[in-house]
Parts: sequence; C-alpha cells; structure tokens
Amino acid sequence: MNLQSFMCGAHCRQSVLVFVFTNLVYQALSDGTQYEACVPRNCGYGPNISYPFWISGVQESYCGYPNFEITCIEMYPFLNFSDSEFIIKDIFYANHSFLLVNALVYQDSCGAPPRNISLERTPFNLCSANADFFFYYNCTSKPTGFTYPVDCANDYTHNSFALFPDKAFQEMDLYSAISSCDSPVSVPVDVNANITSLASMNYTEILEMGFLLNWTAINCSNCEGSEGRCGFENNKFVCFCQDGPHSQTCNDGKCIAESILCLRFLTEASYLLFCMIFHLYVRRDSVD
Ligand SMILES: *[C@@H]1O[C@H](CO)[C@@H](O)[C@H](O)[C@H]1NC(C)=O
Ligand SMILES: *[C@@H]1O[C@H](CO)[C@@H](O)[C@H](O)[C@H]1NC(C)=O
Ligand SMILES: *[C@@H]1O[C@H](CO)[C@@H](O)[C@H](O)[C@H]1NC(C)=O
Ligand SMILES: *[C@@H]1O[C@H](CO)[C@@H](O)[C@H](O)[C@H]1NC(C)=O
Ligand SMILES: *[C@@H]1O[C@H](CO)[C@@H](O)[C@H](O)[C@H]1NC(C)=O
Ligand SMILES: *[C@@H]1O[C@H](CO)[C@@H](O)[C@H](O)[C@H]1NC(C)=O
Ligand SMILES: *[C@@H]1O[C@H](CO)[C@@H](O)[C@H](O)[C@H]1NC(C)=O
Ligand SMILES: *[C@@H]1O[C@H](CO)[C@@H](O)[C@H](O)[C@H]1NC(C)=O
Ligand SMILES: *[C@@H]1O[C@H](CO)[C@@H](O)[C@H](O)[C@H]1NC(C)=O
Repeated sequence: MNLQSFMCGAHCRQSVLVFVFTNLVYQALSDGTQYEACVPRNCGYGPNISYPFWISGVQESYCGYPNFEITCIEMYPFLNFSDSEFIIKDIFYANHSFLLVNALVYQDSCGAPPRNISLERTPFNLCSANADFFFYYNCTSKPTGFTYPVDCANDYTHNSFALFPDKAFQEMDLYSAISSCDSPVSVPVDVNANITSLASMNYTEILEMGFLLNWTAINCSNCEGSEGRCGFENNKFVCFCQDGPHSQTCNDGKCIAESILCLRFLTEASYLLFCMIFHLYVRRDSVD
C-alpha cells in the first residue's frame, strides 16, 4: 500500500491541513520578532536604551511607553517634556532613575534656563538627591555676597546671578538684591557627585552635572530575569521572549491573556487530534 493513500484518507487530510496551518500561524507569530526588535540600542554617545525607554526610528514603539520616546540627535539621546529638550547622560535601570541635562546648556551660548521645568503629565519625579539652584534675572541691585554671575543675561541696568538658596540665604544682604529681581527660575542639580568643588565652578559647569529623575513604570526585572525584554503593546505590559510574547515572564508558559486564539494550545490540540486520527487509521488499516 502506498504511503500517500495510507496517510490521506478524507478525514486525515483535513486534520493534517489544520495541523500544518495552525503550526504556520503559530510560528509566524512566535518567532520572537518583537524580542529581536527590542534589543537594547544606543545613539552613539550615552547609555544603552531599553524598556521603558525606546529610540524612535531605531526601535519599535512597543519596546517602551509613549512618554519615554527618545530621539537621537547628533548621536546624543534626547528626551522632550515641559516644552524643553534634555540630553540623557545616564540611566539607572536598577533603581528606576536617570540623569539628564537641559540641552540648552550645550546648544545656547548663554545656557541660562528661561523657565521652571514642569513634570506635570509625565511619569517622572524629582529625586531627593537634587539640590535647588536658583537663577535670578533682571535685578536692579547687585548682591555683595557669593553668587554665580550670569553675565550673558545682563543689560546696562539689569543684573543676573545664580545661587544655592540654602547656603546663600544665610547672608542677610542677599535678600535686598533678590527682592529687586524677577521671580527666580529653579533648576534641580545632582550635587552629590561633586559637592566640594561647587564653589570653584561656574553656572554652566554646575548645570552640566545634570539632575536625577525617577520614573513610574512596571518593573522589568522579573521578565528580564527570565531572558525576556519588556514592552508595552495594546495598552498592556508585555514580556517579549524568543518564543513570542508572554504576559509576565518567559516562564509563565501561558499564552498572552488577550489573544483570541491561544495558539500554542491550538497547535498542541490539533497535533493530538492528528495523532489520534492517524492511529485510528493505522489500526483500522491493519484490521482490514
Ligand atoms: C551597552 O551594551 C553593550 C552590550 O551589552 C555593552 O558592551 C556596553 O558596554 C554597553 N554600553 C553602556 C554605555 O553601558
Ligand atoms: C524632541 O525635540 C527635537 C527638537 O525639536 C525633535 O527633533 C525631536 O523629534 C523631538 N522628539 C520627540 C520624541 O518628540
Ligand atoms: C524591581 O523588582 C526587583 C525584584 O522584584 C526588586 O529587587 C527591585 O528593587 C525592583 N525595582 C524597583 C525600582 O522597584
Ligand atoms: C540609582 O543608582 C545610581 C547608581 O548606583 C545612583 O547614582 C543614583 O543616585 C540612584 N538613584 C536614586 C534615585 O537613588
Ligand atoms: C521618586 O523619588 C521620590 C523622592 O525621592 C520618592 O518619593 C518617590 O517614591 C520615588 N518614586 C519612584 C517611583 O521611585
Ligand atoms: C528681563 O527683562 C527683559 C526686558 O525687560 C525681558 O525681556 C525678560 O523676559 C526678563 N527676563 C526674565 C527672566 O523675566
Ligand atoms: C520657579 O520655581 C520656584 C521654586 O519652586 C518658585 O519660587 C518660582 O516662583 C518659580 N518661578 C517662576 C517664574 O514661576
Ligand atoms: C568634580 O569637580 C572637579 C573640579 O571641578 C572636576 O575635575 C571633576 O571632573 C568633577 N567630578 C565629577 C564627577 O563631576
Ligand atoms: C565655565 O567654565 C568653563 C570651563 O572653564 C568654560 O568653558 C565656560 O565658558 C565657562 N562658562 C561661563 C559662563 O563662564
């Protein structure tokens, strides 16, 4: 008896087709495309970028959250919020924080901040390690104590300077100078790195130290610990694995919750069906 007629009775042919088809679909969707797409990348300079951040044009948007979109500009990683652009100097994935500098410090010859930054409608928070650094503009009187001059913001009649308020406010004579200025612009600075040399620096060097923000997003360490890469797709956290997306970690063995067809289950079920029918035929054939 030839193998083809043995294999493909009318019932059997159908289940072979189902088996082949579901296997193809399963493989097409589970080849780890998203896992590959979300490999950490960088802009040239700066840290490696991965969830919850993603680089637009380099990684797919599902590799992170919309608010964490990074643009590479001249090989530096830029993040925009509060109508400003920031360069990311470092990302500390372990404690959900990152160090950034207002791009104005590098792009503008003066580099003095024009306004307070706002973290409203962002997933970011100021870390307590930052100190406040205040810029006073358009002052009509000059301070006598120690301040950081901001000469590029001066004109003939107005004077500008910067200071760390907690230290400077101990000097009484500063109060009269400050009260002659516009409302100050406050800049967070991560001074922990270099607190002793602050007095020997100028305001641009201080701004270049950057400031620390932390972020709120689902912790990736369980997914990453199972060799997965985190992402965000269809408004849900996803753990992308080599065998396709999972809901929490690569070890959870479950198909992703919301999918209409649980493809792995379907594949296995149809394989089982195929085997049953196959054996039924073999048995009936040998009895015949
Ligand atoms: C980025 O990742 C690569 C590969 O894991 C590593 O060799 C490199 O040191 C990392 N770069 C930074 C800035 O952490
Ligand atoms: C951030 O701003 C820069 C300059 O305006 C722009 O080129 C870039 O596309 C912006 N990035 C995002 C994610 O909006
Ligand atoms: C993320 O989870 C890991 C393991 O559960 C924990 O050690 C780590 O502190 C968490 N990170 C943050 C920033 O919550
Ligand atoms: C996170 O860890 C880095 C490196 O250890 C550290 O410099 C930074 O201050 C930490 N961030 C917070 C918010 O503690
Ligand atoms: C961010 O830092 C602030 C100040 O240190 C802290 O109160 C807050 O809990 C931190 N948020 C996260 C998500 O780590
Ligand atoms: C300082 O005064 C000038 C001219 O009056 C004005 O254009 C500028 O916006 C003022 N600066 C600040 C920070 O208020
Ligand atoms: C900026 O923030 C500081 C401190 O929060 C505040 O005193 C100041 O009035 C603000 N400046 C402006 C121009 O809103
Ligand atoms: C600390 O300040 C000194 C002197 O200004 C500088 O040489 C050094 O690079 C700074 N270190 C850091 C970590 O910023
Ligand atoms: C601050 O110091 C640096 C290095 O000495 C210098 O390049 C920069 O022009 C200075 N900035 C200002 C505003 O004086």
